[in-house]
Amino acid sequence: MNATLERWGSRRAFILAVTGAAVGLGNIWRFPYITGENGGAAFLLLYIAFVLLLGLPVMMAEILIGRAGRRSPMLSLGHLATAAGASAHWRWLGLFGAFTVFCILSFYSVVSGWSIEFLVTSINGGFVGATPAEVGAGFEAFLGDPARMTFNHTLFLAMTMLVVAAGVAKGLERLNNLLMPLLYVLLLLLAGYAATTEGFAPALAWLFRPDLAAITPLVVMHAMGHAFFTLAVGACALMAYGAYMPEQQSLPRAAGAVAVLDVAVALLAGIAIFSVVFAQGMDPGEGPGLMFVTLPIAFAELPWGALWLSVFFLLLLLATWTSSINLAEPMVATLQGAGMRRGPAAAAVGVAVWLVGLLSVLSFSTLAEWRPLFGMNVFDLVTTIPTEIFLPVGGLLIAIFAAWVMRREEARAALGVGEAGFRLWQGVVRWVSIPLAFVVLIAGLL
Ligand code: PFF
Repeated sequence: MNATLERWGSRRAFILAVTGAAVGLGNIWRFPYITGENGGAAFLLLYIAFVLLLGLPVMMAEILIGRAGRRSPMLSLGHLATAAGASAHWRWLGLFGAFTVFCILSFYSVVSGWSIEFLVTSINGGFVGATPAEVGAGFEAFLGDPARMTFNHTLFLAMTMLVVAAGVAKGLERLNNLLMPLLYVLLLLLAGYAATTEGFAPALAWLFRPDLAAITPLVVMHAMGHAFFTLAVGACALMAYGAYMPEQQSLPRAAGAVAVLDVAVALLAGIAIFSVVFAQGMDPGEGPGLMFVTLPIAFAELPWGALWLSVFFLLLLLATWTSSINLAEPMVATLQGAGMRRGPAAAAVGVAVWLVGLLSVLSFSTLAEWRPLFGMNVFDLVTTIPTEIFLPVGGLLIAIFAAWVMRREEARAALGVGEAGFRLWQGVVRWVSIPLAFVVLIAGLL
């Protein structure tokens, strides 16, 4: 199996693939609304602290396991555990990761489908001259239309599974290469526009002047979950990508670059979106619809607004596409590891995710009041529980595995650093990341 695994074409390709996995809905859609719901700057502060102390070191742990194992997450974990004289049951962590990404992809595809709808509406000039109230009402009407939502969900999932079925696509590497920089430029442009609105100053204050009284154990837990989500850490998805990593590459440097880009995108999106929110007197705690309502309003005021808005939704779609491919990879790799061929494995995953995704679609209409657990409907459940509980639990176990269970030499070689660098990483994971994740999980759950 080792010999047959594909490799990323270059170091750059690996960084782009991981950035593609990290930058997605988490930065542009989830970050602003979750920050809005959790008190602004205090949440942002916590989230950045978690990225540094937890997300980044655990990201390295996760990728190094894949790189050392060079197999599907489940097989890598089992193999490395046995080699270290530990229990082969560690392999079940790979299955847990696959279950986590299954839940996440089921709503990710639905929300990415919203971008398709908005892209088409925008290209057709549907937002030209629309008032904020009309944009809001249009979004509500869309959410109440399961047929349209199902169509977009189906289209997005098909796009994802086709690429996954085709393998670690060179084409996608190139596309990423070309288009991700354009996304940054557009975000900068939007943030620049935001600076000219009267919402800019209140937005900055809201984002950067923390009210420490807003911090509760639950807010801390939301911030931790979001740090894992946005970096794509904790579900063995980056472990799957690590298995294709080139031999000669410094993992800490690659991971650091990804984290910086990821936070930068979130900040730019946050500045742009909150400026519009405050300029229009909207509610920052609006929830999942926040971006879909604010952006059409903002762009409507810009010259060539419809064009920019269309380009923006196109890039957002590409960003979510590269993330969803990463979300699908651990499931497909697990099935492949169990002997299935890649094509049928991708098809099976696609159908299963599609079916469960329908529950998210219907959460905005027929099933809005169906609350199977914790008083939440399915969409609320799949957008919170996997991110805030499964990812941190998975990340915690991944960190324990890499820093305590794996053979030291094997871990060091896979991290691709010298002795001092390894000691630093291991010390941070052992004595900062693991205790921190543990304490926050317990405090948040009690
Ligand atoms: N990081 C992606 C985003 O911010 O949209 C989402 C994600 C991808 C989460 C892969 C988890 C994962 F394993």
